[in-house]
Amino acid sequence: MTDDETTVVAIDGPAGTGKSSVSRLLADEVGAQYLDTGAMYRAASLAVLRAGIDPDDVDAVAELVRGLSIDLRDRDGDTVVLLDDEDVSTAIRADDVTNAVSAVAANARVREQMVELQRQVAADRFVVVEGRDIGTVVFPDAALKVFLTATPRARAERRHRQNLEAGRTSDLDEVLASVNRRDHLDSTRAASPLRRADDAVELDTSDLSLPQVLAALTDLVDQRIGVRR
Ligand code: CDP
Repeated sequence: MTDDETTVVAIDGPAGTGKSSVSRLLADEVGAQYLDTGAMYRAASLAVLRAGIDPDDVDAVAELVRGLSIDLRDRDGDTVVLLDDEDVSTAIRADDVTNAVSAVAANARVREQMVELQRQVAADRFVVVEGRDIGTVVFPDAALKVFLTATPRARAERRHRQNLEAGRTSDLDEVLASVNRRDHLDSTRAASPLRRADDAVELDTSDLSLPQVLAALTDLVDQRIGVRR
């Protein structure tokens, strides 16, 4: 690998598969930069809600998002999300944002803008990029593509635990319903639906611990990319 080469590890899958946690750790382990593309759609959704725009109003949403500046920065291994220079890293995890994000992410013009931004951020770097369409649309030539899955129940339980640990109120049945609803919206939308790339390695994480998933992915990076920086 040379410094002017873009090398991408694409990690896709639905909510609650452990994508974010493992992608962050993997990037650290292999000396790559971590890119959380969901955070970009969340930042756009937060702006939509703050502006009082209906997330399903395709033209108004696209127009608003076109004027936004969304930036991701790395601070001690954590991704800081800047929306027009304001740190919104915590605000984008609120329930109302989670409920609006699938509608905003289904907007083809918003996606076009975010994909462009994602390609810019990754240019000339070794990156672990996490999302829904990374192996299929954003980086179809990624050096390694992984598709993480888990049963809806296992995914809802993880998300529920995460909520409680972060001090957010959480109801398991509601989380399960929200996970199912987002899965449905994300995989049935017309623009870049959530699906496994044909050449992705699929890993079911239902019964695996985070260290086990990390070990499996680190091995895959070693096999496919070889060099650790
Ligand atoms: O962390 P969690 O699984 O809850 O979701 P996220 O990665 O923060 O992504 C939030 C939402 O953004 C997803 O439900 C998708 O609707 C959308 N998304 C997308 O459409 N494409 C991506 N590359 C990443 C996220």
